[in-house]
Amino acid sequence: MELFIVGFGPVAGYKYSRCIHNAISQGHLSRYHVIDRESQQQVVQARLAKLPIQPATCTYIPERVLQNGPDAGVEWLIQQGVFTKSEVKKKLVITTEPQSHGTYIKFALAQQFDVLVSKPLTLPMREGVLDYRALLPNTNAIAAASIEARVNTAVLCLGRLHEIYEQKLRQPVALMMDRLQHPITSVHVKTASGVWNLPSEFGQREDHPYKYGYGMLMHGAYHYIDVLARLLLMNRRLFPTEDFVIVLQGFTAGPLDQQLRTGGLEAMTTGYRPELSELQEDLPYGETDIVASYAMKFRSTGRVLCLGTIALEQTTPGMRSWGPFPEVPYNINGRLHCTDIDVRLGTVFSIAANVTKSPIQARLGDTDIRGMNSATVVTRANARLARTQGFIRREHFERSYGNSYSYTAEADVFERWLLDRPTQSDFSSHVPSCALLDGLLRLAADDWRGSLEIDFNYPVPDWPTLSDDPWYTHMADDIAFSSEHGPRKPVIKNGVNGTKG
Ligand SMILES: NC(=O)c1ccc[n+]([C@@H]2O[C@H](COP(=O)([O-])OP(=O)(O)OC[C@H]3O[C@@H](n4cnc5c(N)ncnc54)[C@H](O)[C@@H]3O)[C@@H](O)[C@H]2O)c1
Repeated sequence: MELFIVGFGPVAGYKYSRCIHNAISQGHLSRYHVIDRESQQQVVQARLAKLPIQPATCTYIPERVLQNGPDAGVEWLIQQGVFTKSEVKKKLVITTEPQSHGTYIKFALAQQFDVLVSKPLTLPMREGVLDYRALLPNTNAIAAASIEARVNTAVLCLGRLHEIYEQKLRQPVALMMDRLQHPITSVHVKTASGVWNLPSEFGQREDHPYKYGYGMLMHGAYHYIDVLARLLLMNRRLFPTEDFVIVLQGFTAGPLDQQLRTGGLEAMTTGYRPELSELQEDLPYGETDIVASYAMKFRSTGRVLCLGTIALEQTTPGMRSWGPFPEVPYNINGRLHCTDIDVRLGTVFSIAANVTKSPIQARLGDTDIRGMNSATVVTRANARLARTQGFIRREHFERSYGNSYSYTAEADVFERWLLDRPTQSDFSSHVPSCALLDGLLRLAADDWRGSLEIDFNYPVPDWPTLSDDPWYTHMADDIAFSSEHGPRKPVIKNGVNGTKG
């Protein structure tokens, strides 16, 4: 097997190089190749120099070629014989800035290479600006092509194999839906990403840019839209023949609003220079924050099945106290997320999960961006009807530095993909998330007014099973509600509790 990694930026260097290293040390992979652009050669070489295992080859696409777009870059790579025809199976990892994802995916599928891409799956552009109208058609086309190509595809995003969102949230919800044949009646998703870009950066950044008409929806928000889409679609299991429609309303704020919303703090940052506060006003900026509410309905009757709110905000507390970007391997603006996901099954059951990243205790300085994860999960149940062992349960979980929930979840997808095992994150499984993303992008578009509708008729997502959690063990009424029945007679059975009856 030969592995090619296209785009060796901060994310690949910091996160996914560890996956490659593990794969090589465990003998799953013998070597890998890196492809990036010429202008980034020195930065990429410096990033690679820190790694314990060096790539077999590095290829840098000339900027004069990329001036004609990413398609020209792929043509050039083919002409250079980078992807030599051989019997060896090829796998392509795409971690470029998302504008190039679509081109490389198309190429990989046409060549029948296995392909793994960091979220978002694709980001269509037109005349230098996000073409949000093309997102869903392009996603559908990619999903169809991936099925036809019969290759192993995956999107790297954190929610699919996440310890909290999957094991502590979706698994018990699935169990309760099956047990009670009860739908999810509300899902509230609220994320505070703690991202602070200074005004001049909005017009300058090429990674996580805003100047090309896209913002946080195509940056970090995808993970949570994906978790939401998968939760909402679980209702399909109970209503397999109904047509679902989601009605959305919402608001956004963006770079032009930011100075109004962040006070005079820029001038207090370390190394501040007044030009950092200069926002170029004539660019088609994407959003920094979006809030929305929705109703999921049956198209046939208009009856509401599920309600909810979505708050995807970046203008929230983070770690940044510096002006000019520091030399750090990753997370140059000190992002610090805090996410709440609250799922309710009507009057009988709910789970609220909070996942937070906090800086490590002994920081080496202002720009020490190391952080640790913790999570709280609060489950509430109508114990008698839900047949749980209590009405409320609070759980707390922690992760050490370097072992965040997002890293381990994505590393798991990466490893499964490398070993040709199911990842729960193939391209087709991302179509519903992109349908929801498409709705939010339409809400965020300047020309939108009022509410909009999304068709939401997709298959049930993979159905998780809860393994061995005694809290969900059924207790018979005479045990759970013994006070109602007066003093209980001891239950004596042969062999139980070591008692002979
Ligand atoms: N999973 C997560 O938590 C997470 C977090 C941040 C970013 N991401 C995603 O990871 C990816 C990479 O993020 P990043 O911040 O490292 O991005 P980045 O913008 O810094 O770009 C990554 C690299 O791609 C290279 N590149 C750009 N266009 C190219 C082309 N046409 N051909 C070859 N190389 C090209 C750049 O030179 C750079 O070295 C993006 O898709 C991003 O959305 C994921």
